[in-house]
Amino acid sequence: MNATITSGHPLTGNIALQGDKSISHRAVMFSALADGVSEIEGLSLGEDVRSTISCLKQLGIIINSTDGVVKVYGKGLLGLKPPDRVLDAGNSGTTMRLLSGVLAGQNFASEITGDASLRKRPMKRVIEPLQQMGADISGCDGQYAPLTINGKMLSNTEHRLKIASAQVKSCLLLAGMYCQGMTKIIEPFKTRDHSERMLSYIGANISIHENIIQIEGLPQLLAASIYVPGDISSAAFFVVAALLVGQSNLTIKDVGINPTRTGLVDVLSQMGASIAFSDKRTRNYETMADLNVASSKLKGMTISGGIIPRIIDELPILAVAATQAKGVTVIKDASELRVKETDRIRATVENLRRMGAQVEEKPDGMIIQGKQKLHGAVVDSFDDHRIAMAFAIAGLLAEGETEIRNIDCVDISFPGFFHQLEELCYD
Ligand code: S3P
Repeated sequence: MNATITSGHPLTGNIALQGDKSISHRAVMFSALADGVSEIEGLSLGEDVRSTISCLKQLGIIINSTDGVVKVYGKGLLGLKPPDRVLDAGNSGTTMRLLSGVLAGQNFASEITGDASLRKRPMKRVIEPLQQMGADISGCDGQYAPLTINGKMLSNTEHRLKIASAQVKSCLLLAGMYCQGMTKIIEPFKTRDHSERMLSYIGANISIHENIIQIEGLPQLLAASIYVPGDISSAAFFVVAALLVGQSNLTIKDVGINPTRTGLVDVLSQMGASIAFSDKRTRNYETMADLNVASSKLKGMTISGGIIPRIIDELPILAVAATQAKGVTVIKDASELRVKETDRIRATVENLRRMGAQVEEKPDGMIIQGKQKLHGAVVDSFDDHRIAMAFAIAGLLAEGETEIRNIDCVDISFPGFFHQLEELCYD
């Protein structure tokens, strides 16, 4: 399916968004490994989280939903049953990488695969450290899915990660539960810490000192009641729209503001954006707030180093915002963008150029000239949900009509995105 976008009216009023995708994956997966029935409120209904749910169901976990509350009937660390077919993680890197840490420690064999995009994404980053823990895991050409895993008891190790990746860290934290003793992980930069928070909340013994995380093996995880706050990575699209469509004043309710995820708010605020948090509250060790966003004039800046992991999923929409800022914006140290659902550097540069922006592609980022007049064009989602949504907002800021090709992928993280956009900008 394609979508056609034109400029709309200011964004005003209050909206609420679906539950955070990263927290949702962890909520169902960790609940499956706990003893007893967990109740999850606000779970994301996106396809990625559905992939995690369907893998867990194949592993013998009962998961059902009534009145917006999802119940997971956890069976303990070693209560999963051998799957009777290949597990399918769909498009979801989080499902594959986190689950491989769990499957490596089971007492049965399994295989996990994914769609064409996921089968091209790098898996050596989990295969190698899991092998160092004694895991029997192999991939296609040693580096791609499908992954074949013969589960067994693992040995604790110290991991000094080369890449800042929350998925790799979480995979190893989960594998670290299937060892005796402490597993230590040292990150080059701090990445999202939802796993650490949720595992601590349900009973794991985890210690954190800056970028060093340690987890004790063989914990007893306990069923819990979990609330999933709104997804700040989904909010990002409406934040940028409200900042750049004049006369907007939008409140986005109940958004997760875990400090490892608020890089976009920090960067935009430095660029001159008016974004305020109100009604801060904390549940299951995750803080949320209402975000108030008012139209603002932005100025360009350089984004690099330690902030990159805190803004990694928001860089395509930030690049769109940068075309409207005064001056140049430089994005560096973000080569990880090349191995997401698509090559997000290539996709962002290509689409922005089609809309008339001046952008230079770099191996690890891009240089975006500010104060650009975007014009309507035919752009592609590259089957990547975040590219589709970023360019829907670019279309809103452009003169004329923008056609976005293949928008079905938005369901990966944000089913209902186009409906919500229509209500906000055109009704
Ligand atoms: C995620 C971590 C990030 C992010 C992805 C979700 C997670 O990936 O891009 O959308 O839930 O842990 P990396 O760990 O590969 O950076």
